[in-house]
Amino acid sequence: MKFFIDSGDLDEIKKAAAMGLLDGVTTNPSLLAKGGKPMKQALAEIAAVVDGPISGEVLAVDYEGIVREGREIAAIHKNLVVKVPLIPAGLRAVKTFAAEGIKTNVTLCFSGNQALLAAKAGATYVSPFIGRIDDTSHEGMQLIEQIVTIYSNYDFDTEVLVASVRSPTHVLQAALLGAHVCTIPFKVIEQLAYHPLTDLGLAKFLEDGKKIPKG
Ligand code: G3P
Repeated sequence: MKFFIDSGDLDEIKKAAAMGLLDGVTTNPSLLAKGGKPMKQALAEIAAVVDGPISGEVLAVDYEGIVREGREIAAIHKNLVVKVPLIPAGLRAVKTFAAEGIKTNVTLCFSGNQALLAAKAGATYVSPFIGRIDDTSHEGMQLIEQIVTIYSNYDFDTEVLVASVRSPTHVLQAALLGAHVCTIPFKVIEQLAYHPLTDLGLAKFLEDGKKIPKG
């Protein structure tokens, strides 16, 4: 499973990249708004740090606007992926981008049927928002199970990118279900390596290590 970081914070992205396990980056307008930089500048700075797919989202909601903004985002750097909302105009634009060789990440996916449409349109990635489904008292991971099954039934090339991840358990479940990618907030990336028994065991080994005769 590929690890992306879900962030618009360059410092966080650099720290995650330094761990050596980062495959890409996803951003969204809410994340980039926190950074206070123009979108193209922010995306170019991220592309200079991470050598992998970097999703930048269009703000237009009409077909012509999505295509115009998407081409501009794709022109920023060869690794840029155009993030497009899962609406009819967005799906139409995804088909256009696919014909032009521009990679896409279809975002705000909340149903198996929406994911089916994204794949049929030729999306590179589809982003189901798991945490936001959990927030409505439904089981977000059931959607991942559905999409993985649908894509495998028809051999679609579209990759399932698990988004709106809130906890290490989400990452574990995504991996068990065979999702291609998980985009993870920095805080959760840090939590992944932690286990109290690892810390306790290490403390004991270090203590006992001091008792080994030197020489
Ligand atoms: O980038 C899209 C997604 O990961 C947003 O997550 O936590 O705002 O639902 P969240």
